[in-house]
Amino acid sequence: MSQIFEIRELRKEYGGLLALDLPELDVASGDLVSLVGRNGSGKSTLLRMLAFLEKPSSGLLNYLGGPEPRREVTLLLQNPYLLKCSVFDNVTLGLCLRGDRENLPARYAEAMRAAGFADPQAMASRYSSQLSGGERQRISLASRIILKPRVLLLDEPTAHVDAASERMILDTVRACLGQGTTVICATHDRQLFSDFPTVREVELRRV
Ligand SMILES: Nc1ncnc2c1ncn2[C@@H]1O[C@H](COP(=O)(O)OP(=O)(O)OP(=O)(O)O)[C@@H](O)[C@H]1O
Ligand SMILES: [Mg+2]
Repeated sequence: MSQIFEIRELRKEYGGLLALDLPELDVASGDLVSLVGRNGSGKSTLLRMLAFLEKPSSGLLNYLGGPEPRREVTLLLQNPYLLKCSVFDNVTLGLCLRGDRENLPARYAEAMRAAGFADPQAMASRYSSQLSGGERQRISLASRIILKPRVLLLDEPTAHVDAASERMILDTVRACLGQGTTVICATHDRQLFSDFPTVREVELRRV
């Protein structure tokens, strides 16, 4: 497998306070990495940098995937935000922002099924304010999967969902891995990926 991220001596400071200090991390294409560590150990900070939303204060963070990193890497935030519009519009927004409007209904349906919705059509015109927390989480996941990322970054995707939704989210991760997607997931649940033979645990230490 080819390498997709190379990290050396990576540091992030906020207002002079060190939030992350990661000496080394190599991630290969197709890897599943479970990012663990206590509250405040820098998991979300690392994911934001891997998604190019923030710059490191120092050190090396190399993306070795393809020529368009921002199109290839996507992050599901710890507290995902849904716009006050329909589920269909929320899920397809990323594609529309890219000017990629071809065949949206079919791609919407595919992403929603991958996120565990048996009847995507029934959800399409629902409003984000009418959804349960677990539904919101999986709809946010669908809005990332529809982009067909090479790297899927997940920040505590199962923190607020019940066992059934957790299984659906894990099925989605399994399907993504089956398609060669690299998955890096921050979680407090060290058992979350116990059924995934290839999972690699990376622990961040509070600095
Ligand atoms: N935008 C910011 N400005 C200032 N400090 C920040 C900012 N974002 C994070 N921090 C600090 O950086 C440290 C790491 O935070 P981060 O959110 O990455 O931790 P985490 O491992 O994701 O924690 P949790 O398990 O609670 O989600 C914390 O001390 C936090 O207060
Ligand atoms: Mg966090």
